[in-house]
Amino acid sequence: VDKLYDKLISYSEEDYYPMHMPGHKRNTKMMHMLNSYAIDITEIEGFDNLHHAEGILRQLGERIASLYNCQKSYPLVNGSTAGILAGISAATNRGDKILLARNCHKSVYHGAILMGLQTIYINPPMVEKYAINGGILSDKIEELLIKEENIKLIVITSPTYEGVVSDIESIAKVAHQRGAFLLVDEAHGAHFEFHKEFPVSALHLGADLVIQSLHKTLPALTQTAVLHCNREILLHKLEQYLAIYESSSPSYVLLASIDRCITLLEENAKDLFQMYCHRLDNLHNSLRSLMHLKLLNDAIVGQDGIYNYDKSKIIIFLKNTSWNGHQLHAILRERYHIVMEMEAINYVLGMTSICDTEEGFDRLAAALIAIDQEMELDPSNLEFQPSTLSGLPEQVIKLQEAVEMRTETVKVKDSIGRISATFVSLFPPGSPILTPGERMNEELVKMIIHVRQVGLTITGLLGENNDEIAVICNNTSEID
Ligand SMILES: Cc1ncc(COP(=O)(O)O)c(C=O)c1O
Repeated sequence: VDKLYDKLISYSEEDYYPMHMPGHKRNTKMMHMLNSYAIDITEIEGFDNLHHAEGILRQLGERIASLYNCQKSYPLVNGSTAGILAGISAATNRGDKILLARNCHKSVYHGAILMGLQTIYINPPMVEKYAINGGILSDKIEELLIKEENIKLIVITSPTYEGVVSDIESIAKVAHQRGAFLLVDEAHGAHFEFHKEFPVSALHLGADLVIQSLHKTLPALTQTAVLHCNREILLHKLEQYLAIYESSSPSYVLLASIDRCITLLEENAKDLFQMYCHRLDNLHNSLRSLMHLKLLNDAIVGQDGIYNYDKSKIIIFLKNTSWNGHQLHAILRERYHIVMEMEAINYVLGMTSICDTEEGFDRLAAALIAIDQEMELDPSNLEFQPSTLSGLPEQVIKLQEAVEMRTETVKVKDSIGRISATFVSLFPPGSPILTPGERMNEELVKMIIHVRQVGLTITGLLGENNDEIAVICNNTSEID
């Protein structure tokens, strides 16, 4: 049997270059700590208590708030997931209405389940050319706030995984005019603060709660994140819920990694980000010469609700070539030892950070230019049709009630009219096309069958052939 630790060590000795998280990029020249065992402690005298911070951990939170220029910040060791769960729980009461963008991360849906919230969805527009989600428009939010009374909280993801940023300032205004809180999942935007070439963080645009994963785009260990709060009224409940969702034994190794990351930024952010943006610009410039592959850039801004774009994401589209994302990723990995963050049918996605090296960027650029020259244009192929539904499915039962009901498995083709007991998501663009409590219809069934045939990734189905789905049993009540 393989041993995990041995495998990690031997992988670290190979020269695979990470175009993926965590943002420290395994760059041990820039980021290092003592042997973890030497600094792994519990809440002993002098080292404070994350759940009742009065000393060094309270100071860490204050330093983060000062660096990000906001009212209050909490370092997190259970990822943005913990911050999102705590934020949703603090800003709502059990059973309240929440308006959430349909492309939210699963932790947002999980927060809604835990609080028994009534979910109202807003579907982001699809950028047809690339089959990625666009931004959320404030006037659509306003329409829903007027139609549905008493929405307590709005949750949107900005930037998205692909770097799409919505107009947070307008959304915050609309939310506050109608008495709703705004939580922005900025898990992919912890770096925005440090250079004017990145979009402005939601923290400075009126959002009440902003959650950022440090480990995604900054040099910190996996699971580290921060929860920022600009509304004093939420603080007490936030702390109550953080105590529920975060481990009662928060890792001092992870907390130390947050401290190292924050110290680096306090001391050196300006120079590091100057150099990083310069390297990113060079990378973007050298990829301009690509003939067949296409690098996504800020030309998408201004359409489909896209207010701004995060250029730290390197997204290479393959439309009109004879290859797909899986093939491109395999060649990048096998021939050039470059490992990307994600592959989709029509693109591959890389994540970058201040810890990327010049060598790493050069290797990626050289690989893509060489592959591009080998490729042939094939306009007939992969004329990619994003899979869109004419509207959201009918919501019959509340999300939280649906997950508590008795379920059975049926063939997808026989599921029309049944109520889903599961999330079904499609990649790209990655948002759920169906959530628990929603009714299957003919259009959905046709789409699921179609996307499986064309080889898109779909999650949430069952059976060896992925042709079955969990639905709520007819004529049964909740499990007591
Ligand atoms: C948009 C978004 N939000 C939240 C999360 C959860 O973050 P974490 O892994 O830090 O818990 C993710 C993780 O992939 C994400 O992509």
